[in-house]
Amino acid sequence: MMFDRSIKIAPSILSADFANFGQEIQAIEAQGADWVHVDVMDGHFVPNLTFGPMAVKAFRPHVKTVMDVHLMISPVDRYIDAYADAGADVLTAHIEAGPHIHRTLQAIKAAGMKAGVALNPGTPAESVAHLLDLADLICVMTVNPGFGGQKYIDMAGKVRSLREMIGDREIHIEIDGGMDTNTAPLMAAAGADVLVAGSAVFRGGSVNKPEVYGENIRAIRAAAEGAL
Ligand code: DX5
Ligand code: ZN
Repeated sequence: MMFDRSIKIAPSILSADFANFGQEIQAIEAQGADWVHVDVMDGHFVPNLTFGPMAVKAFRPHVKTVMDVHLMISPVDRYIDAYADAGADVLTAHIEAGPHIHRTLQAIKAAGMKAGVALNPGTPAESVAHLLDLADLICVMTVNPGFGGQKYIDMAGKVRSLREMIGDREIHIEIDGGMDTNTAPLMAAAGADVLVAGSAVFRGGSVNKPEVYGENIRAIRAAAEGAL
């Protein structure tokens, strides 16, 4: 994985057909997705429940770009090796998921993955101040995690602070929740480079109508790049 700050669109397969993940992943990649965002929920850290490492491992052969796994689970550490084995390229844990995020990020890197740290809307930018030499990605949640299709919560000030704190370090700023053609430009302008979008990518399309995914991805990308 080479680092750059260009805009990357990461469709969340939380909005895909759950009976057809392989074809859905192939369709979004063929239609221009840069990364594939995989939302793991445990029904405990967040109210919703999705899938675990065995499913993620089954997705892996279909992903030709970057498999970006967002863990909304607590505890995290006991599952890190399972997600490394499943083939995650980026593994992101929530700072709110436990008292030892520094150890968690160390363990993710030791297992050979890029380490991400996610911040709920109520968590300040300063909470990652002592993680900047360890993290490869900071995920700023612009919804409270757990469900797709929620209303965007503005985090532009937090993103600008993070961008300044990061300086020249090779750390991605990822935005997750409510990204569409109206909100993506706000986050791109504030300094984000990875934009996760679930409903705004999958809306109106299907594996039989994949060109709609392409139109949606291109529209979000153009809106974001237009703000730079
Ligand atoms: C929310 C998930 C998101 C979600 C985004 O808990 O982490 O990745 O799928 O969905 P939209 O783009 O519909 O807000
Ligand atoms: Zn996510």
